[in-house]
Amino acid sequence: MSKTEFQIALLPGDGIGPEVVAQAKRVLDCLSQKTKYNFICEQYPFGGAAVDELGEPFPQSTKAGCEKADAILLGAVGGPVWDQIERGKRPERGLLAIRKHFGLFANLRPARVFPKLVSASTLREEVVSGVDLLVVRELTGGIYFGEPRGLDKVGDETLGFNTLRYSESEIRRIAHVAFQAAQKRRKQLTSVDKANVLESSELWRSVVISTSKKYPDVKLDHLYVDNAAMQLIKDPKQFDVILTGNLFGDILSDAAAMLTGSIGMLPSASLNEKSFGLYEPVHGSAPDIAGQGKANPLATILSVAMMLIHSFDLIDLGRAIEKAVENVLEAGVRTGDIAGSAQSKIASTEEMGDAVVRELEKILGV
Ligand code: IPM
Ligand code: MG
Repeated sequence: MSKTEFQIALLPGDGIGPEVVAQAKRVLDCLSQKTKYNFICEQYPFGGAAVDELGEPFPQSTKAGCEKADAILLGAVGGPVWDQIERGKRPERGLLAIRKHFGLFANLRPARVFPKLVSASTLREEVVSGVDLLVVRELTGGIYFGEPRGLDKVGDETLGFNTLRYSESEIRRIAHVAFQAAQKRRKQLTSVDKANVLESSELWRSVVISTSKKYPDVKLDHLYVDNAAMQLIKDPKQFDVILTGNLFGDILSDAAAMLTGSIGMLPSASLNEKSFGLYEPVHGSAPDIAGQGKANPLATILSVAMMLIHSFDLIDLGRAIEKAVENVLEAGVRTGDIAGSAQSKIASTEEMGDAVVRELEKILGV
């Protein structure tokens, strides 16, 4: 019999994290009530909240809770309050540690422009309308993790240094993920590197080319990262799947997100080799609007959809959540970040959650 019960570790984190995760949990509760599946959520401290409570961003108790779960849903981490603490204890370090601990090397960041939100983009309608791309970012290697790293005193000045390294096997496994994602989409893969300058990128390019032999149906091309950034703004519709390393992926995925008008709409998945995953909105903790009911919960709700699709193989239920979000947007419900100037009523975080849950109930036909 296939599995009907799923344990989810909720890590609300900091800033708007708790507010948006609360709405995503309502969506999971709705599915538990209205379908034969049961989604059991347990909450653990993470990020700055965990630093305050337990003295570190990724405490042992949170690690143990995540280890026994089937998937992790994360809100957001960080904020100015924790910027001054010792580097190893900053909330962002917790994020890097959890990625490394579970081997979450494959970060999927889809960016799709919803027809009703075209006007929310800062770019012209004809440039962004119809954009539908996926950034596949390597997440546990590259300059984020390379050793040696640190700060050294050299004579009377300080020297900061990091190391960018990638092994063939690290490149090959993320390339496979990207080629397979492309096979399920428009079969076009753009690998982004800086092979004109960096040896690690030279290797990246050659490993991607050799991996491509297994995927003759996927059209592969290569761009240097500076050109890729330019092309993303100039003509984003040329892209289907973008494959890149950790640092370039960090930067390009924010740029891709903004094509859609609001980073408040974009979900992500970070997967390991066993499809165990951490799901989180691409946006940060937005401390400036935290606790005010202004945050857009849709990115987190759409992250739940990705969880059902990628980790639980509940594709229809994942699609039902996506459809509910689309319908809510069609109906004109808007949080502040996606409201045009003509919008008369701005929905709160909770009202947006209400609208999605109501729509989902309709779609599930109960
Ligand atoms: C992201 C974030 C993180 C990253 C930070 C918060 C460590 O920007 O997930 O894109 O750089 O990976
Ligand atoms: Mg980032």
